[in-house]
Amino acid sequence: AQSDSGEAHRPMIHFSPERHWMNDPNGMFEYKGVYHLFFQYYPGGNKWGPMHWGHATSKDLFRWKEQPIALYPDSLGYIFSGSAVVDKNNTSGFGKDGKVPIVAIFTHHDPKGADAGKQDYQNQSIAYSLDEGMTWTKYAGNPVLKNPGIIDFRDPKVRWHEDTRQWIMTLATKDRITFFASPDLKNWKKLSEFGEKVGAHGGVWECPDLFPLRYKGKNYWVLLVSINPGGPNGGSATQYFLGDFNGKEFTPRDTLTRWLDYGPDNYAGVTISSDKQTPVFIGWMSDWRYAQDVPTTRWRSAMTLPRTLSIQGEGNNLAVRTYPLDFPTSLISTRYTLKNFTFGGPPDVYNTQKDSLLRMRLTMPVTSVAIQCTNGKGEKLVFGYDHSTNQYFIDRSEAGNTDFHPDFPKIIYAPRLTSSKTLELDFILDRSSLELFDGWTSMTAIFFPTETFRITGSSIPYNFPVEWYVEMLNPARSPAK
Ligand code: FRU
Repeated sequence: AQSDSGEAHRPMIHFSPERHWMNDPNGMFEYKGVYHLFFQYYPGGNKWGPMHWGHATSKDLFRWKEQPIALYPDSLGYIFSGSAVVDKNNTSGFGKDGKVPIVAIFTHHDPKGADAGKQDYQNQSIAYSLDEGMTWTKYAGNPVLKNPGIIDFRDPKVRWHEDTRQWIMTLATKDRITFFASPDLKNWKKLSEFGEKVGAHGGVWECPDLFPLRYKGKNYWVLLVSINPGGPNGGSATQYFLGDFNGKEFTPRDTLTRWLDYGPDNYAGVTISSDKQTPVFIGWMSDWRYAQDVPTTRWRSAMTLPRTLSIQGEGNNLAVRTYPLDFPTSLISTRYTLKNFTFGGPPDVYNTQKDSLLRMRLTMPVTSVAIQCTNGKGEKLVFGYDHSTNQYFIDRSEAGNTDFHPDFPKIIYAPRLTSSKTLELDFILDRSSLELFDGWTSMTAIFFPTETFRITGSSIPYNFPVEWYVEMLNPARSPAK
């Protein structure tokens, strides 16, 4: 059973703050092998409030150390979501004595302006750090990008565009994305708009990200756009577009709406700013419908696991593959593969190691399968694949505490997008979260059992050729926090 010291449900290798409210990941960057995660944070309670940037660092993206708050609200407003870049060439001029400035670009949200019925209460501002991201100074000339009168004007994600040698800002502007360019992170000019007529529009567009991916010798540009509400299972979710970016305009290859994750609990995710080739993505593991009501007390919300993004597919059927990073080997306590496992049930894993974290991969010919987690309280979490509808599902309707919001106790569905004859289901359970991947489809869902779940059954036909790959993590060696 989980303790009631305020730690109940707190994950082991997903970042969550020690206490109080968290939403979007912000300003993630990597410099000299250290990853920095900032996040929307309200240190005054466990619901959303005046936003700060909380801070945590990690060397492996699994073991995090929480750091002092990085940015506090000021006379220009709350510190909303944004990004950070390593300004290697000191284009901003903030560098001093050979120190490379890290520049954070964020939205100043002025609550007084909003209350007064103004339209221009969200503006973009910057801050810089000369100690590799640990402490920050806000720029005296803030804001650097003024709002022309658009009510939702926020969440700047900035990257260097080598071909045109300028900074590109991707900004969420109500129901579309607006791109801006700057030579120095201080002066911005508008380039173009995208998305008014394509993509999902069931809610406001937020937290975009634009980045290139190489695939089979070609460059593609991916544009992530979070939307709230209007996701595939209701609530908030992240869609993406595949296309080209020429330093001025983003041109999509097609008008498909694609979802980075079909589950309800992956929102506002973006990639980590870094020189490394394969981008790594982290999202906020909750949904705005019920995020403030979930049954945790001392802390509230965790991030998803870090996931690499790459392109896969052929011809017109290209897609972004999202896959969790491998766990650091030092975290793994047990690892084994059961091949030609013809007994229908799952291996007896959770029984030996109470409360440990688990990653499993099930490989078998395509057929329906349901995997069941249960506990002594009669609660259950069921997930798997339904061959008749070609859908994955996660049923958390009886997974413990579900009555805090009417939209929570639902069955969540996602299409299977590959036609491979082999079903490969990779899933990770960490106390109160399930992340499910097949390479083409991913699904993230949180749940709140009142007693720890164990995997106790599966519906695989008897004598079916199945392979289970199992990894268990030693909780004693996985300080998540
Ligand atoms: C997305 C979001 C952002 C905003 C932040 C405020 O979850 O609404 O658009 O910057 O949260 O906390």
